Amino acid sequence: MLLEVRNLKTQFKTKEGAVNAVNGVNFNVDKGEVVAVVGESGSGKSVTSLSIMGLIESGASESVEGEIIFKGENLLKKSKKEMQNIRGNEISMIFQEPMTSLNPVFTIGRQITEVIIRHEDISKKDAEKRAIEMLELVGIPSPEKRIKDYPHQMSGGMRQRVMIAMALVCNPELLIADEPTTALDVTIQAQILDLMLKLKEKLGTAILLITHDLGVVAEIADRVVVMYCGKIVEDGTVEEIFEKPLHPYTEGLLKSIPKIDEQCEKLFMIPGMVPNPLEMPKGCAFSTRCNKCNQMCINNEPPIFIEDERNVRCFLYDKNGGSEM
Ligand SMILES: Nc1ncnc2c1ncn2[C@@H]1O[C@H](COP(=O)(O)OP(=O)(O)OP(=O)(O)O)[C@@H](O)[C@H]1O
Ligand SMILES: [Mg+2]
Repeated sequence: MLLEVRNLKTQFKTKEGAVNAVNGVNFNVDKGEVVAVVGESGSGKSVTSLSIMGLIESGASESVEGEIIFKGENLLKKSKKEMQNIRGNEISMIFQEPMTSLNPVFTIGRQITEVIIRHEDISKKDAEKRAIEMLELVGIPSPEKRIKDYPHQMSGGMRQRVMIAMALVCNPELLIADEPTTALDVTIQAQILDLMLKLKEKLGTAILLITHDLGVVAEIADRVVVMYCGKIVEDGTVEEIFEKPLHPYTEGLLKSIPKIDEQCEKLFMIPGMVPNPLEMPKGCAFSTRCNKCNQMCINNEPPIFIEDERNVRCFLYDKNGGSEM
């Protein structure tokens, strides 16, 4: 197993009270596998990925607990320096907004070569050669010229390709992509996804794909983890999730995907809103919006139940008691 996230709890202490952004999350990513994390805004997807990258540090206002086992070692036990060596090298991340993650005052060539030089004993010239090769691989035309460009000289799609090049240039074993295509228009989205899949095949990189777009999931993921209010409510293979969603929340998410053959029908929306993290319901976090909710759900937090050898956090599947994985 490449990555094992065990009982991850990330909490922010705010003036208004504690926000349990990630509240006991368990999942695995195997070598070369694409695992998608889906859920509505505020479900804790980005906080999960930032916690794995070591970009949220335990301290006075934030705490990260649990275990993040990467290649057999707990990343939460690593020092700042050790994490810096892992980031960009063994685990890389692509952020949602490429303009905010590329530095506007340096050429893209310099930014890519810096990543290589930081992690490898390599001359500047060789690093530049690698940067050009990588830009070529992600489909940037005339990379030897474009390497001298500043980020603002490139289109959004190009910048995202540069981000991918930068993330993959040290051949990481795990790529975390947080909404990698949301800021792009649909045709470019398709190209970038296609590119990620090709690179995955070529380089064998495992991908943790964070998205709220289930269309994207269907296209590229092997497995899906569904998050709601900081907890995983269900996981399964893409086929399982799309063919037989167990949790009412997953059902709602799937029903909200627009379908071409149902043009005239109104698009389904899960009723209600994600609860305020400071005022979470006493029982199931989804109980306030669930059409299958009963008294049990209102009063008790559901544990994990097993149905068809799959995990689901819902009392509908309570046959002989659940567990916390
Ligand atoms: N620095 C912070 N301080 C306080 N609360 C935070 C902080 N960062 C995130 N949160 C809260 O943690 C919860 C999870 O946020 P997160 O960014 O992980 O959501 P998300 O699933 O990535 O949503 P989106 O789809 O909008 O990107 C939210 O309720 C958010 O308000
Ligand atoms: Mg996010």
